[in-house]
Amino acid sequence: MRANLLILGGTTEATAFANAAAEKGLTGTVSFAGRVERPKRQPLPQRIGGFGGIAGLVAYLKAEKISHVIDATHPFAAQMSGNAVAACAQADVPLMALTRAPWTERDGDRWTHVPDIAGAVEALKQPAQRVMLAVGRMQLAAFAPNPQHFYLLRLVDPPKDLPPFPDHHVLVSRGPFTEGDDRALMEEHRIDLVVSKNAGGTGAYAKIAAARSLGLPVIMIDRPAVPERREAHSVDEVMDWLRHSGVDLGV
Ligand SMILES: NC(=O)c1ccc[n+]([C@@H]2O[C@H](COP(=O)([O-])OP(=O)(O)OC[C@H]3O[C@@H](n4cnc5c(N)ncnc54)[C@H](OP(=O)(O)O)[C@@H]3O)[C@@H](O)[C@H]2O)c1
Repeated sequence: MRANLLILGGTTEATAFANAAAEKGLTGTVSFAGRVERPKRQPLPQRIGGFGGIAGLVAYLKAEKISHVIDATHPFAAQMSGNAVAACAQADVPLMALTRAPWTERDGDRWTHVPDIAGAVEALKQPAQRVMLAVGRMQLAAFAPNPQHFYLLRLVDPPKDLPPFPDHHVLVSRGPFTEGDDRALMEEHRIDLVVSKNAGGTGAYAKIAAARSLGLPVIMIDRPAVPERREAHSVDEVMDWLRHSGVDLGV
């Protein structure tokens, strides 16, 4: 069978899968939400922008005759992942999520778990600290209730609006980062506390390792729930699944 894949992207995993798919001569499209100004160039055609909810995605799957969906979005993109589960069920298109395991606490880590962004905001209701806030520019407004802190913000693109807290420093960088660089960064800005999503994977882990080595506390935002679905943890696992579902992958 000749496949026509839809790869829901915006992550390192999605790019890695798209590269592997292109190498095998598979056809498909990589989809971005349009959150970053210059998404990484993909080896397959790309489309940018929301589908228009579940109904919009069902219509897209049918119009484009998509044979398989690979949801390689970020673990915090729960809305998109939930929509993919519902739309694929309605359109009868097989779905595989390509995910990464969450980070787990190791010796020396000082994590406080919170369930979501609101929980992190609540945990920051304390006297002024120097905070490395690694949550992405879309979520900055939520931190307005705690303007007493200094915030070190590392973002892929500069924020469109000034953050709603006066004392901050913005670094624009896409990563990946190293533990040594992040340690030096935290020392330079005299960071007391790190706020991070439990993204998993290696690209964003440097700040967690750096916090551990400096003995700094981390407010760790746990992952949002997504509906049950088939999950793979590597590109090879997704390829095996495609092969078993009858897709011609060559030799
Ligand atoms: N959340 C994070 O921390 C994070 C971190 C790194 C990268 N990303 C990437 O950034 C993108 C947006 O993440 P999010 O957390 O804002 O998503 P989200 O809250 O789950 O999704 C909100 C809406 O954005 C659209 N959307 C999201 N991902 C899309 C994609 N890959 N292609 C087309 N439309 C998409 C969908 O709109 P419609 O309902 O109109 O279809 C979706 O309902 C994703 O591609 C994700 O992989 C997110």
